[in-house]
Amino acid sequence: MRVTTTVNGERRTVDDVWEGESLLYVLRERMGLPGSKNACEQGECGSCTVYLDGLTVCACLVAAGQAEGREIGTVEGLSGGADLHPIQQAFVEAGAVQCGFCTPGLLVQTHDLLAREPRPTDPEIREALAGNLCRCTGYEKILDAVRLAAGPVAGPVAGTTP
Ligand code: FES
Ligand code: FES
Repeated sequence: MRVTTTVNGERRTVDDVWEGESLLYVLRERMGLPGSKNACEQGECGSCTVYLDGLTVCACLVAAGQAEGREIGTVEGLSGGADLHPIQQAFVEAGAVQCGFCTPGLLVQTHDLLAREPRPTDPEIREALAGNLCRCTGYEKILDAVRLAAGPVAGPVAGTTP
């Protein structure tokens, strides 16, 4: 099956996609976008979080065919070039990245939160990130990072909520 989508603002077509393949597999293995991580493949950890038509989803739970004709935004689309996005910078500065496996999903989910609520309270941050598991940081550094990122305005990323 052929699947055509727009990924980070770029039209992408892949062929020979098996009907049972996930969007996560297509992004990582067929489109060369390994930023979204595959940790549980069951919708439990959030490490594969991407935007699908402006809403965050677990890419491991989306069948590739469901992405046909739709807009996808991945962690690779957050930063426009060599410079880190302010959210990425905040995660680095706050020490919120250890093994990094959870980080791409947290970045996308934080981007979505700050686009909706530029000054979130701690309970709002906790609720927004409740589906993103981290085994390394104990979450405090992640909270610090989101608070830090809430200063700069998050720029738009393709396939996201305006
Ligand atoms: S890999 Fe998708 S939720 Fe864990
Ligand atoms: S930094 Fe290792 S799982 Fe979060």
